[in-house]
Amino acid sequence: MINDDNFLPTPLCSMEALPDPGSKGFVHQGQALFAVRQGQQVFVYENRCPHRGIPLEWVPDQFLDSSQRLIQCATHGALFLPESGECVAGPCAGDYLKARPCHISNGHLWLD
Ligand code: FES
Repeated sequence: MINDDNFLPTPLCSMEALPDPGSKGFVHQGQALFAVRQGQQVFVYENRCPHRGIPLEWVPDQFLDSSQRLIQCATHGALFLPESGECVAGPCAGDYLKARPCHISNGHLWLD
């Protein structure tokens, strides 16, 4: 029998701590993650570019391009759709960032 207590959701941050539009990096249980906010929609991904397997950002918490609409890898400029993590331009076009399920509740962002 599985003990559900081991699978409780974990809060990442308050929604007030997430700029809109904007992004924020986290280290959660030893894993580098980042969140992207667009209005009331938030997406969480592992902070690992599918091109070289390295972190996407050079400046802390800056994961978006200058338009604030696309996720950008700082190393070679790959661009990703926030809603799916699909790379739409750059050396890993067609690959995907690895998404982490999340939800918003009580003014906080939670990992599922
Ligand atoms: S490491 Fe991200 S585009 Fe090359």
